[in-house]
Amino acid sequence: MAMRAGIWIFLVALHVQAGNGQMVQMDSSKSGFVGSQVELRCIFINSNPPVKISQVTWQKLLNGTKQNVAIANPALGVSVLPPFKERVTFKQAAVRHRTPSLEDTTIVFSNLQLSDEAAYICEYTTFPAGNRENMVNLTVFARPMTRMTLTTPTIVARATKRKMTVATCMSANGKPTSVIKWDTRLKGEATFQETRNQNGTVTVRSNYVVVPSRETHKQKLTCIVTYRSERITDSVVLNVQYEPEVKIDGFDGNWYLKRPDVQLTCRADANPPVTIYQWKLLNGSLPSNVEIKNNTLFFKGPVTYDLAGTYVCDATNGIGTRPAVVDVNITEFPNNSLPGGPEIPQEQHNTGAIIGGAVVGVALLGVAAILLFVFLRRRQRTFKGDYSTKKHVFGNGYSKAGGLPVHPPMPKNLQYPDDSDDEKKPAQIGGPSGFEASEREFDGEQEDLKRPYFTVDEVESRDYDERTLAFQYDPQPEIADDMISQTDGSVISKKEWYV
Ligand SMILES: *[C@@H]1O[C@H](CO)[C@@H](O)[C@H](O)[C@H]1NC(C)=O
Ligand SMILES: *[C@@H]1O[C@H](CO)[C@@H](O)[C@H](O)[C@H]1NC(C)=O
Ligand SMILES: *[C@@H]1O[C@H](CO)[C@@H](O)[C@H](O)[C@H]1NC(C)=O
Ligand SMILES: *[C@@H]1O[C@H](CO)[C@@H](O)[C@H](O)[C@H]1NC(C)=O
Ligand SMILES: *[C@@H]1O[C@H](CO)[C@@H](O)[C@H](O)[C@H]1NC(C)=O
Ligand SMILES: *[C@@H]1O[C@H](CO)[C@@H](O)[C@H](O)[C@H]1NC(C)=O
Ligand SMILES: *[C@@H]1O[C@H](CO)[C@@H](O)[C@H](O)[C@H]1NC(C)=O
Repeated sequence: MAMRAGIWIFLVALHVQAGNGQMVQMDSSKSGFVGSQVELRCIFINSNPPVKISQVTWQKLLNGTKQNVAIANPALGVSVLPPFKERVTFKQAAVRHRTPSLEDTTIVFSNLQLSDEAAYICEYTTFPAGNRENMVNLTVFARPMTRMTLTTPTIVARATKRKMTVATCMSANGKPTSVIKWDTRLKGEATFQETRNQNGTVTVRSNYVVVPSRETHKQKLTCIVTYRSERITDSVVLNVQYEPEVKIDGFDGNWYLKRPDVQLTCRADANPPVTIYQWKLLNGSLPSNVEIKNNTLFFKGPVTYDLAGTYVCDATNGIGTRPAVVDVNITEFPNNSLPGGPEIPQEQHNTGAIIGGAVVGVALLGVAAILLFVFLRRRQRTFKGDYSTKKHVFGNGYSKAGGLPVHPPMPKNLQYPDDSDDEKKPAQIGGPSGFEASEREFDGEQEDLKRPYFTVDEVESRDYDERTLAFQYDPQPEIADDMISQTDGSVISKKEWYV
């Protein structure tokens, strides 16, 4: 009750043309979408002493001009005027009765049109109190058509690097006006355009403009349309076609004479994928010993000076052809400070050095322990055998590995015959088994352990140690093949044994 009274006072203050207790009660505003139906309320509050209602008139007020919509007269009946005849009715049947009740003259507006937006006046003509009226503002909304489109299903990145609209987002014929925003990681800019239609609706259109490129391929673009409190989102993923981006892998700057199994591979990033790879040598023809498989040039046989030159790979896709170039030069000797040679690979270099250092430390400790052990045991035993042969084992190891580069000033090369590249790798990392073999090998001969192999290496750089060890421990299989175990756990070369 108290609440009702409150509303009452509020209405009186705002919307009621008051006078001697009579008033017309209406909503202050109403809204509806195009095509929908809306009720415009109008209630006459009569009070003591009651007045007589002579007529009720609904009027449309637009631009200061009044237009009659509907009239209800107790004596003459009801009249709805064109152009409202088809769409406006009085809600209460009692309005149309022979002895009508005109207290509630609410009208129902159906199939709303944009042109219906206006203020509507409900006016009561009474006797003896005179006219009482009130007003409602009717707003008509039009839901926009929202859609997002790609400029074309596939966008082509041109070398000219011209900006282009890749996607368009449109919210058409909306009322009130929509707001368009973009959400994307794509670098670009949006243009906005608003077109106001005759009927009061607004079309908002936004273009997203980018320079299509490899980087824009597969990027997602989301358009966010805010219409009143609604959010409508739509996304597209760009499909950008671009020329191949080409590079040649395989030349590490360390192609030295006799290096085996070198190759050049042409790698391309392209959309659509590359269909043709073409190799050529600038100012010459490709060496006769190359084999081309797909995108790779295999050089058969060891490296010779003939391989030097500028190699070009042309990669072609549906958009275009792009080259990559590599200058191949051949050196006489490997460069051990570069990757790719008979060297540990670059990326393993640092860890390799650390591991190598640790390995050497552990090895030396182990050797020292074994030395001590062997020394003590030896004192209790008579030794039969010629341990000097073991030095030959090492010698054989070198020459067996072959390809000892004849280059005395570069001692590092000595440890790296051409074909030892792959073989030594497991030994570097899988040290422990290598050590066992070596320990056995060294077992028993104190003198050998003091030979330059270790003593020289120890004082040299860690890299050097590591390489040296790696190689020396490698010929483990040879031990198995060419060595014969001794009862004391040591081994002796078969050759020496049988000779
Ligand atoms: C109705 O709209 C008019 C102008 O459009 C405005 O001046 C008036 O205050 C509004 N009336 C109400 C009750 O909102
Ligand atoms: C109302 O007035 C505005 C300008 O104030 C005009 O653009 C519009 O056409 C008018 N509407 C009608 C229905 O007369
Ligand atoms: C408003 O006008 C536009 C442009 O003439 C039209 O496409 C749209 O359908 C109209 N909207 C309504 C609700 O009549
Ligand atoms: C290689 O050929 C190009 C043109 O085909 C020429 O300009 C250049 O001088 C040549 N270079 C050599 C080293 O022959
Ligand atoms: C290379 O070409 C052969 C046929 O010559 C084909 O079977 C193979 O799939 C191709 N490999 C690649 C990686 O393209
Ligand atoms: C060989 O080629 C590499 C890489 O292209 C370059 O860095 C180096 O200087 C060249 N060496 C000679 C001797 O031309
Ligand atoms: C080996 O390669 C390094 C790094 O590129 C370079 O500085 C050095 O001069 C090369 N050494 C030889 C002997 O070519």
